[in-house]
Amino acid sequence: MEKITVSLIKADVGGFPGHSTVHPDLKERANKELKQAKQNGLLVDYHILNAGDDLELLMSHRKGVDSEEIHGLAWHTFEAATEVAKELKLHGAGQDLLVDAFSGNIRGMGPGIAELEFVERGSEPLVAFMMDKTEPGAFNYPIYKIFADPFNTAGLVVDPTMHDGFVFEVWDIKKKKRVFLRTPEELYSLLALIGAKSEYVIKRVFPKVTSPLPKDEPVAVISTEKLFFTAGKYVGKDDPVALVRSQSGLPALGEVIEPFAMPYLVSGWMRGSHNGPIMPVSFTYSKCTRFDGPPRVIAAGFQLSKGRLVGPADLFDDPAYDRARRKAAMIADYMRAHGPFEPHRLPIEEMEYTTLPNVMKKLAGRFEDTE
Ligand code: F6R
Ligand code: MG
Ligand code: MG
Repeated sequence: MEKITVSLIKADVGGFPGHSTVHPDLKERANKELKQAKQNGLLVDYHILNAGDDLELLMSHRKGVDSEEIHGLAWHTFEAATEVAKELKLHGAGQDLLVDAFSGNIRGMGPGIAELEFVERGSEPLVAFMMDKTEPGAFNYPIYKIFADPFNTAGLVVDPTMHDGFVFEVWDIKKKKRVFLRTPEELYSLLALIGAKSEYVIKRVFPKVTSPLPKDEPVAVISTEKLFFTAGKYVGKDDPVALVRSQSGLPALGEVIEPFAMPYLVSGWMRGSHNGPIMPVSFTYSKCTRFDGPPRVIAAGFQLSKGRLVGPADLFDDPAYDRARRKAAMIADYMRAHGPFEPHRLPIEEMEYTTLPNVMKKLAGRFEDTE
């Protein structure tokens, strides 16, 4: 069976206004590039979306993960959109394109990437999650809930095809190491790591051998790029994306989006330096306004049909998420009231990746011994 690959590649190549959202002309320019690639047969299908100020290219194709052709297409599309952003003098035009020229693989060059290659099933529901004003570790909580928490995912308890649980691939993003942990048997070890979300992030989830799905095909993937490690200086949080397959031996669609009913705390928000609630929003509200946020997530639902991305369904465009949004707004008030105090402002260690050390340098010479 020929496999299909879904690639979600994103970059902030200019905000409008400030860091709030993407100007329609950038999406139009990106559309021109991807339309051509579809006509040329490189892409089976594509959709262009935005999460706040991030331009999101969702593409299906038969080239596999890490394909030079697909990564090159994404890179050149971002370059073309950057030209438009420069012409309109948008804020931070080209900010996530950290190198001058494409060199075969877009990883480590600035954009964020999530790619899944698999044999398309009889019915293949897929959710693309896109976040703005936060970091890859922001996906730890919902991905854990979806694939390992029986209080979220009823299927773990009642569906015999999911009853044995899943395998989590966790990355230490600073040391560049990874470990595979099996749930439910290693649940506590998994939580010991992924609770430290700025260090350990879930990269992929796999079915177990007992699953009806092939065990070597991931069923979820998260972008884990850290711009700081690439640029060597703070150039924004890393606004992550994720792809999650669903149904028939996997969590149901409703189980996949259920964790977002709780506006949990993530780090990012203003200047990438604050903790705040993640707000699930419709595409219409995929823009970061109040205090450059609060951090937001959109969910685009699809059915795949021979690689065609049938959709998107705007999954958080639903009154069932109104309470989560209201709660997020209340938590935002509460957190904001702390002003520059922790835990609204991030702890010093995490501020190392932002601009605070430069402020501290100014004061360095004025510190006197107290004893
Ligand atoms: C956070 C973000 C914004 C900016 C802030 C300052 O990820 O993008 O909150 O950090 O608006 O932006 P500059 O330094 O571009 O004025
Ligand atoms: Mg920006
Ligand atoms: Mg962004």
